[in-house]
Amino acid sequence: MNSEEIRERFIKFFEAKGHVRLPSAPLVLKDDPSVLFTSAGMQPLVPYFNGVKQPPAKRLVTIQKVFRATDIEEVGKDGYHQTFFEMLGNFGIGDYWKKEAIDWGWELLTKQFGFDPATLVATVYFDDDEAFDIWTKELALLPNDRMFRLGNLALGDDTNFWSPGPIGLCGPCSEVFVDRGPQPGVAPHRCDPSENCGRYLEIWNFVFQQYDRKADGSLTPLKMKNIDTGVGLERLAQVLQGVAGDAYRTDLFQPLMKKIESLSGKKYGQAKDVDLSMRIVAEHSRAATFFIADGIAPSNEWRGYVLRRLIRRAALHGRTSA
Ligand code: SER
Repeated sequence: MNSEEIRERFIKFFEAKGHVRLPSAPLVLKDDPSVLFTSAGMQPLVPYFNGVKQPPAKRLVTIQKVFRATDIEEVGKDGYHQTFFEMLGNFGIGDYWKKEAIDWGWELLTKQFGFDPATLVATVYFDDDEAFDIWTKELALLPNDRMFRLGNLALGDDTNFWSPGPIGLCGPCSEVFVDRGPQPGVAPHRCDPSENCGRYLEIWNFVFQQYDRKADGSLTPLKMKNIDTGVGLERLAQVLQGVAGDAYRTDLFQPLMKKIESLSGKKYGQAKDVDLSMRIVAEHSRAATFFIADGIAPSNEWRGYVLRRLIRRAALHGRTSA
């Protein structure tokens, strides 16, 4: 399934469940100058989530372009870290809750995208019995031994607890991973989905926005609860196109990789250092293009500096190995 078919299937599925499609917001949010870049599908929707603005509908579906600066140095080292990606998401604003969100996500994954349920595992926040029971009993989608309870804020572990920032909307989350089986050199019992052992590939994140976090860390239950889900298009495409673990082999990156191969006269997949450089050139030039299209120019500070770093890093790797 090519990436355009994946996008359309996602949108149509949720439209059929009463969601209204909104276009992607820009990478820089006009209404929120505190945010460096749009880094999640829910970010442009925050005013709806916290009741400041009336949403156009209680159920929304988007494909949001996002950028995560924290991962810049990781790009290239493997096939799946990226700074820029497309986030598919369905959102319920004071509307449906955990059961529907999980039920629909699972239906789309297994019935429409054809994922084999036997290859999937799910995580929940350590004390979220409600979500655990939905997975294992109410909807009976997964057996207990393919469920993981992770995280514990009190112990400083925020796994399976999601928030866009240190204060404001947040809540426990539940994630679906493809289990690619034990990986060479990693004992199975040493690896759970929160570890970077290559066994589990995250594909879906269901966030249950149910708290407002204050500066002192206290959590106040929200009056209006919201569903915020996110599915990385590049991750989904990897699995559906049979190249799990390597976004650069999906149709989203192949035209760029082919161009880099023809410019450099080298082939992807033959030498580690060349692969690293090719990935960096492809990923960063793609991200930089979207930055520039959204009106960001290279400069010495703030957003422009990030763009400059991307271009510099890509140029450096273009000259050295690629
Ligand atoms: N906001 C969550 C994320 O970015 C789910 O959409 O993963």
